Amino acid sequence: MAKIKDRKGIILAGGTGSRLSPLTKAVSKQLMPIYDKPMIYYPLSTLLIAGIKEILIICSPFYLKSYQNLLGDGSQWGVNIKYKCQQSPDGIAQAFILGEEFLKGSPVCLILGDNLFYGDNLSLKLKEANQDRNNGTLFAYQVNDPSRYGIVEFNSEFNVLNIQEKPTNPSSNYAITGIYFYENSVVSIAKNLKPSKRGELEITDINNVLLSENNLKVKLLKRGMAWLDTGTIDSLHDAGTFIKTIETRQGLKIGCPEEIAFKLKYIGKKELKKIADNYSSSEYGKYLLKLIKNY
Ligand code: TTP
Repeated sequence: MAKIKDRKGIILAGGTGSRLSPLTKAVSKQLMPIYDKPMIYYPLSTLLIAGIKEILIICSPFYLKSYQNLLGDGSQWGVNIKYKCQQSPDGIAQAFILGEEFLKGSPVCLILGDNLFYGDNLSLKLKEANQDRNNGTLFAYQVNDPSRYGIVEFNSEFNVLNIQEKPTNPSSNYAITGIYFYENSVVSIAKNLKPSKRGELEITDINNVLLSENNLKVKLLKRGMAWLDTGTIDSLHDAGTFIKTIETRQGLKIGCPEEIAFKLKYIGKKELKKIADNYSSSEYGKYLLKLIKNY
């Protein structure tokens, strides 16, 4: 019997970041600080928590070197990181076309590089979605400003009726969050898409194809969970404050790939110490040293 392929991860970290100008004139949005670490550490940590070890970073060619300097080949965390450039931001669904070679037939979890997930039970939900090989899985979250997102409408039994991209008159307040679990068939669906009126290959079009085939589940993330996107000045600031508040209160870090890799035993004390020593004058480095001591 053929071995079931492990799911691979893609972090989409291109885009123009125009809503953050002039911050994004010289620095990629997903490298901006969210309190004490670069934004991309959060989606990266989310993939690690889901149990994904092979990861492709898609970024603009302009910032490729910066991402490589920051994340390397992933071996410092016991995972594998590869890179692919997106020449222009032609839509989220383009990730699967750019990622085809990397995926080599594997199922995929795509996460947007500016999305931050936090909350109790998150890891269980992510692991379940990773292990489900019968359906794709999306997560919906109630938001105050639904016309900015892909919006899902449910019936009274919470079955999905439809998903609409940035509707002018939203039929619900449930937004589709920026993490998507799909089978490899998503690659051929993406290749057959036509650009939308705004000229992008839309993830919502992929979701509607899967819905029409009855191959998609949408699970609810309730209010005990935080889903933040960080694409505007205010949301960037709010996310930093949110992380600072919780980290300061608990003395624990959110979105620390070294800690996750250590707890999952991808790396041992020796590897963790090597990273900590490189950051010895920062609070981040001191936190890593404390992990080694307390373990
Ligand atoms: P957006 O926030 O929709 O776009 P953006 O990052 O370019 O920002 P702005 O609207 O301010 O110009 O993108 C969501 C995420 O997806 C973000 O992490 C960037 C990424 N993305 C790409 O990498 N390539 C793309 O073609 C698109 C549309 C988005």
